[in-house]
Amino acid sequence: MKYLIGNWKANKTLKEARSWIEEVKKEKPTIDKRLKVVLCPSFIHLTLFRDQMSELTLGCQDLSPYGDGAYTGQVTARMMRSLVEYTILGHSERRRYFQETEIKVAQKAVQALDNGITPIIAVDADNWRRQLNALDEGMINKSILMYEPPEAISKQIGPIGKGEPAPIDEVKEAIVKIKKETEAPTVIYGGSVKSHNIAIFLEEPLIDGVLPGSASLNAAEWLKMIRMANQTIIKTTETP
Ligand code: PGA
Repeated sequence: MKYLIGNWKANKTLKEARSWIEEVKKEKPTIDKRLKVVLCPSFIHLTLFRDQMSELTLGCQDLSPYGDGAYTGQVTARMMRSLVEYTILGHSERRRYFQETEIKVAQKAVQALDNGITPIIAVDADNWRRQLNALDEGMINKSILMYEPPEAISKQIGPIGKGEPAPIDEVKEAIVKIKKETEAPTVIYGGSVKSHNIAIFLEEPLIDGVLPGSASLNAAEWLKMIRMANQTIIKTTETP
């Protein structure tokens, strides 16, 4: 199974989300059964997606570290469980701009797993051991890890960023190490993945998928990435 997980980050009004949906629906992309396509828009878009695109698997980009209760501004895993199957946790932007610590990430992962939501836990090149420190092996086993060096993230210039992904050999080396030391079954790559480079990552058997951010904002680019991912999966599994 390969994952293609879009991360909209803090983008799009409801109106903009509606036009993205309309554009994507026009094409009705075929999706190979070995490809899992997930979109993580903002919380405010989730019910729109459920109503307008019920076939698309959804994720959110964060969760409360606590359960329901007196936690103003938070969205809990129990609220989300009927809407999403996945949640991104510990994205480098959250660690950097919102002071998210590994303890908080672990608390959020507990909430997610207790509510049947699979965490997609982001780690980077230099700090991944510490970033996973507060998670026990069982939790890592049930999560998806995302290797994403922050310097590989696209700068948001226009609808599609202009960043450069990390070199494939570096990604492979990091993922081998992470898999070996943590026994994580699923590790994906994130950072400037676009339709023109998605195949490089998906062709590699060690890499279980990709998480494009800015490229997922553009409907035509999203459709192209699905097409490329489908083709790559078919090509790499063909018997000679
Ligand atoms: P990017 O973002 O594809 O825009 O680089 C990926 C991510 O940080 O989620």
